Amino acid sequence: MRLAPCGGSAFVVRFRFARRLLSAAAGSVPMSIDYASKIPNNVGLDQNKQLQRALEHWQPKYLDWWREMGPLESTHFDCYLRTAISVDPKGWAHFGYVKMPDYRWGIFLTPPEQDRKIAFGTHKGQPVWNDVPGEYRSTLRRVIVTQGDTEPASVEQQRHLGNTCPSLYDLRNLYQVNVEEGRHLWAMVYLLHAHFGRDGREEGEALLERRSGDADKPRILGAFNEQTPDWLSFFMFTFLTDRDGKYQLAALAESGFDPLARSCRFMLTEEAHHLFVGESGIGRVIQRTCEVMKKHDIEAPDQVRMQGVIDLPTLQRYLNFHFSVTLDLYGGEVSSNASTFYAMGLKGRFEEEKIDDDHVLTGAEYPVLDIAGDKLIEKRVNAQLALNERLRDDYIADCQAGVDRWNKIIEKAGLPCRLTLPHKAFNRKIGTFAGARVNPQGKPVSEAEWTHHSREWLATAEDHAFVRSLMGRVSEAGRYANWIAPPARGIDNKGLDFEYVRFA
Ligand SMILES: [Fe+2]
Ligand SMILES: [Fe+2]
Repeated sequence: MRLAPCGGSAFVVRFRFARRLLSAAAGSVPMSIDYASKIPNNVGLDQNKQLQRALEHWQPKYLDWWREMGPLESTHFDCYLRTAISVDPKGWAHFGYVKMPDYRWGIFLTPPEQDRKIAFGTHKGQPVWNDVPGEYRSTLRRVIVTQGDTEPASVEQQRHLGNTCPSLYDLRNLYQVNVEEGRHLWAMVYLLHAHFGRDGREEGEALLERRSGDADKPRILGAFNEQTPDWLSFFMFTFLTDRDGKYQLAALAESGFDPLARSCRFMLTEEAHHLFVGESGIGRVIQRTCEVMKKHDIEAPDQVRMQGVIDLPTLQRYLNFHFSVTLDLYGGEVSSNASTFYAMGLKGRFEEEKIDDDHVLTGAEYPVLDIAGDKLIEKRVNAQLALNERLRDDYIADCQAGVDRWNKIIEKAGLPCRLTLPHKAFNRKIGTFAGARVNPQGKPVSEAEWTHHSREWLATAEDHAFVRSLMGRVSEAGRYANWIAPPARGIDNKGLDFEYVRFA
């Protein structure tokens, strides 16, 4: 049976086996967290008064930022959130009601791995660094700042969503993601303060000054200046853009700079929930749409919309947009920066230590795509120069596995259409395909063809207006908006009708 696409694309991106999430914790020794101090931490902050003072000086500025740019009008809500209380993989979180400005944002690193060695690059086999090597200082600072900048950016992008939550369960998940992105900012600011002196402290201030989408002081990376105007966008963002976070963090978790590696390993533990929110959120939208399509025996998008649910072609166009924007976050296909980071031992590949090669990549090659007239061609380039592309390919395989699980929901409903990831050259703004016109199937097209079809490929103003028209706040415990199915189970073994957020 030939399966029909849900939108403009039937192209199925090359599937590679999805790889398991990097083991989140490096060791099995639990490290307790000091909750008595102003800044909860497991890094012995009370042993370093100067550092402690610097971070305590930054803390009120962070809280000001949270009040100004964090979730709108949420200050007095009691939210049922998890808070990190240890880095023991068997039980690191405590669940309970908390008002978000009182959330205990802290600094948690996974325990050091004894005798850990640098796994790749020119320093391969040497002991990892606990201090920044002088010659790599500015490069490493840039890497940390770029990662750190994405964390508050997403909180800013999602600031308004609480007003249109489809349920208390979803509202709680939004807030959970937000507070943990805030904690990820703490993780990066700690590294800046602890290892980069005055420059690091200045970068810490600047991280609170940039604003997502601001013309004068934008966030560093493009996708983090886009809007997240509705919950479909939020679920796409957490499925796709938080997954970019997973891959970037996994690459940094290999770093020869051990404090960075250990920070990122713990961040990955939290990140897994964000990906769950995205994948299950879209899965529930699909499930609800399929139920309505079956019940009323309808397929035409306008008929589906009349029932107050999101038609699958609209979902496909949202997917096309968010996927292509997120692919740009990996940077150019051929990148001397990526090569330098790798050679220096600062940023590895995804699951570096599981890869069976020399981990230096001398003489190795990797395939990248190029555009030649009206065709895409594959060329082989030096593997060290192609590290962005390799990480992007690992990411795409992981996304594809999620899309396959969504398609199982459609298949189970007995409907013929399928969602697909667009080709990686589609709608790109960075790298080889920046400015090129390539359709979702991966075929270069003329400007006229692009203009003619782009409404079928990318979410339109009408699509956004329709999705927006469905958004309305559902704030009664146990009720779910019409356009989304309830989840399979609640959070922390609580019921679907649990009061996940209490409005004071
Ligand atoms: Fe994050
Ligand atoms: Fe995240």
